[in-house]
Amino acid sequence: MQQPIGVIDSGVGGLTVARELMRQLPNERLIYLGDTKRCPYGPRIKEEVIQFTWEMVDHLMTRDIKLLVVACNTATAFTLEELQKRLNIPVIGVIQPGARAAIKVSQNKRIGVIGTEGTISSKAYTKALNGIDKDIFVSDLACPPFVPMVENGVMKGEVAERTVKNTLKPLKDRNGIDTLILGCTHYPLIKDLIQKEMGENIQVICSGEETAREVSLILAYQDLFYKGTKKPKHEFHTTGDLNKFKAVANAWFEEPVELLKLVVIEQAS
Ligand code: DGL
Repeated sequence: MQQPIGVIDSGVGGLTVARELMRQLPNERLIYLGDTKRCPYGPRIKEEVIQFTWEMVDHLMTRDIKLLVVACNTATAFTLEELQKRLNIPVIGVIQPGARAAIKVSQNKRIGVIGTEGTISSKAYTKALNGIDKDIFVSDLACPPFVPMVENGVMKGEVAERTVKNTLKPLKDRNGIDTLILGCTHYPLIKDLIQKEMGENIQVICSGEETAREVSLILAYQDLFYKGTKKPKHEFHTTGDLNKFKAVANAWFEEPVELLKLVVIEQAS
């Protein structure tokens, strides 16, 4: 199928998921839309996240996407069910795949989850984990300082280390978990710091990898793979500042940014 896969996020964080999709599905074309202008979604009320997410989805639906990936955890927590009900294409979020990956590796059934205020207060990860295995104990923590820190390009060094240490302290004090889900698009970018702080015995899970695997399965199951020979030309759209987006994309992607076509769309509201 020629049609592209749509990927939405509240900003640049979903590029971590897009990168994984490009790695696992090198023939598939992506159209990425990041609502950088209205990022972060994490501290916003549910109704606002739902409205903004639909605005992004409506835009991508005009581009005839064959599958939608909601790369943003907060948007997944608040909108996935509704999107799946109302759209006539497969819609994949990042929470269920992350939960499955954690269950696969946890030995003691004590799983930690960190994310934005919105994701954590929605209890979406707890529901997903306990929906699979009700005996799993979930210890969750909102980490509001992480997104602005990563957005500002602070991903290593003394300030980043101190912020990670102070923010994760309540989770460390609770103890007992053997697995930690990074339930936010931005956290894989500071995975090393989080791993160091939590200790080598904790398995740290990035849901992007598992999400890409799920997309691959759905494409196979529904016979939606692109079967042509053309190299995909991805498109990356932002509602915000193009240069800032470009700088972050340059830093995060392994391939040269010239390959990316960056288009600014009008913000819907
Ligand atoms: N993309 C968001 C998430 O994964 C993080 C950034 C934000 O708060 O908008 O929850």
